[in-house]
Amino acid sequence: MDLPIIDLDIFLNKPREDPEVIQESKKAAEALIVYGALVLHDSRVSEEDNTVFLDLLEDYFAQSEEVLKQDERPELSYQVGVTLENTEKPKCAVDEPCLNIIARLDPSERPLDISAHAPDPKCRFFWKMSEKPPYETQFPGLNASNVVPQAEHIRSRWPGIMEKWGKSMKDAVAGLAAMTAVGLGLPGETFSEAGKYGPHILAPTASDLVKYGTKDTILAGFHTDLNFLTIHGRSRYPGLHIWARNTGKRIPVRIPNGNYLLVQAGKQLEHVTGGLIKAGFHEVVVNERTIQTIERRKLENPDRPLVRISSTFFWHLSSDFDLAPIPALVAKARTLRAEQINLGKDDGDEVVYEPMKVGHQVQK
Ligand SMILES: [Fe+2]
Repeated sequence: MDLPIIDLDIFLNKPREDPEVIQESKKAAEALIVYGALVLHDSRVSEEDNTVFLDLLEDYFAQSEEVLKQDERPELSYQVGVTLENTEKPKCAVDEPCLNIIARLDPSERPLDISAHAPDPKCRFFWKMSEKPPYETQFPGLNASNVVPQAEHIRSRWPGIMEKWGKSMKDAVAGLAAMTAVGLGLPGETFSEAGKYGPHILAPTASDLVKYGTKDTILAGFHTDLNFLTIHGRSRYPGLHIWARNTGKRIPVRIPNGNYLLVQAGKQLEHVTGGLIKAGFHEVVVNERTIQTIERRKLENPDRPLVRISSTFFWHLSSDFDLAPIPALVAKARTLRAEQINLGKDDGDEVVYEPMKVGHQVQK
């Protein structure tokens, strides 16, 4: 099953009222409702920038643990700099509703077992890409600046490449946020304005495939993301699985070559749409195709580190934004849920979306 491909170019290059724009925007909203994910085409995004970014991050994570540790900032709760492997735990492993979701899936479609609750064997780097709000905020967050790695062969390239690829993904995802609003029948700036001062973050993850390259290793256990929309460039190694709402099927994600990105719905989007769009569950594992790619890269790129990089970017709503379901969407969410139940499909437990500040939702 392939995910719908949404063309951001149409949205950016034609007037908002153009029928083609409206149609493509509806297709985007529909894809998020049905799959919780989509493939986004944006011709401003360059394949070359993704390649340069992946090379940089492979070089970075190929450094010794001792060197990487210099970029850790535990005193800042790891909100900038590096987080080494086996630190982050998938919270789904201890979360009752989440375990129920797994239990309801057909055994052949379940994620790899996370109940042993081992932390994920992945490293991460947090690079803030937020803008300071011009108003007084209830959530001042972090004033610390981003961490630039010390090694000369990395340091000289780091800020330029992080900013360039980060900006490409940020612009693309903000465009999709506007497109989604239009597709849902809302004013076009509804989400992009609400997220203007969000604590956006470029958060590439790295998995050492020498250590963790055997079949059925969990690199990131089954979970949803807490932000609004998550966007990724194409990874060099397959392994991301998503679960489309109601299909109960595990879908291995493929992103076409060229200027394509993958976008997934997060909890803030679920909240503000009253569950019309649900945050998409996903996992990253070593599957058959990951193994094939490892073998191929060993032959074709013998000098490159065997590290799986995912160029994840988390796009958030602003911390001071009042997160509450939009009434018109709540009505649609109810209708959709009733339809699903009538069709005999499992739409999960009914969720109450209490109004709260985005900053509190993130803290929670
Ligand atoms: Fe995730």
